[in-house]
Amino acid sequence: MKVLLTGGAGYIGSHTCIELIKAGHTPIIADNFDNSCPEVLNRIKEITGQEVRLYELDVCDGEAVDRMFVENDFDAVIHFAGLKAVGESCAVPLRYYRNNLDSTLTLLEVMKKYGVQNFVFSSSATVYGVPERVPLVEGMPTGCTNPYGWTKLMNEQILTDASAADSGLSVVLLRYFNPIGAHESGRIGEDPNGIPNNLMPYITQVAAGKLKELGVFGNDYPTHDGTGVRDYIHVVDLAVAHVKAIDYAAAHKGTEIFNIGTGTGYSVLDIVNTFMRVNDLVIPYSIKPRRPGDIAECYADPSKAAEVLGWKAERGLEEMCRDSWNWQSHNKNGYK
Ligand code: NAD
Ligand code: UD1
Repeated sequence: MKVLLTGGAGYIGSHTCIELIKAGHTPIIADNFDNSCPEVLNRIKEITGQEVRLYELDVCDGEAVDRMFVENDFDAVIHFAGLKAVGESCAVPLRYYRNNLDSTLTLLEVMKKYGVQNFVFSSSATVYGVPERVPLVEGMPTGCTNPYGWTKLMNEQILTDASAADSGLSVVLLRYFNPIGAHESGRIGEDPNGIPNNLMPYITQVAAGKLKELGVFGNDYPTHDGTGVRDYIHVVDLAVAHVKAIDYAAAHKGTEIFNIGTGTGYSVLDIVNTFMRVNDLVIPYSIKPRRPGDIAECYADPSKAAEVLGWKAERGLEEMCRDSWNWQSHNKNGYK
């Protein structure tokens, strides 16, 4: 299939691009490099031996998106493009709503015009809000605590309504848990701007000597060691889920939601200890107060994805920690 990857130069999009090529598909990337670098295209070529066509554009720009659809007969769209920093979304909510909602509306309108019927969307476990219980199942109540999360939930609603009104449209909503790790080559990986907010890039930058020590946000949660528990998933496993999702979309109509996680929760200290052990490194850390808005535990019941998509995460925590460090240690300043 010829697959448009909006935001395909980003962390998850670039890994998905490689898995799509491996599976025999033809990905095309549209990105405005708001949070990524053109260098990633060279790295994808290095890994796959294939040149990926790039459109440097803003997905909210309807005319530019239209021109791209005139030039390409797409079979499917995977919509990764979006702003994703939770704290920033509270400071500049309108920018988040404009970018994350307008991009989806623009794509849906242009897809309708050109008869493109398969849409896969990057949603997030954040749509479950503060969970009543874990593991999380797709049918559980949703609700958000910040504008970023609301953009995900609103997009889910927009896409569900669009597919209900158009019997030809197929939508797959993938609720990602916590992607970490990098491609085994160490040539592509996560390259956050400024000081990372998320745990794994913070750890790797401490390991690289760029940051002094890790702050562990709270050790008084009701978890096995008091620190927050999450469902960390290797980004390559997550990428493979997209290959399954476009196959599923092409064969079905309507909207389906899938949790994309491993089903296992690890605490902050589990991650730190595993990272130190497999990489033979010391990560200095100290316990800090809880981070506002954090929850104690969040992990998936991924059985629907296993049964319906035939997808299951295969890479364990040790591999995630090794691959994260392999990327960081060989690319001290990311792609720059
Ligand atoms: P990323 O920032 O690395 O990639 C997003 C890409 O989209 C970037 O390359 C950016 O330049 C591009 N982009 C943003 N707005 C654009 C626009 N208007 N037009 C064109 N390009 C635009 O992020 P990621 O981690 O790869 O995440 C991909 C998607 O998955 C996002 O929608 C994110 O919200 C979602 N998601 C990510 C996580 C995570 O932990 N990384 C978890 C759940 C969901
Ligand atoms: C965050 C976002 C969530 C998003 C997800 C994946 C918030 C409140 N939530 O969730 O919307 O979907 O990232 O991108 O930002 N931790 C530390 N020290 C650190 C960083 C993190 O102890 O320096 C802890 C956190 O308290 C948490 C765990 O590590 O318990 C994971 O944190 P993080 O990587 O930020 O992911 P989430 O909190 O799951």
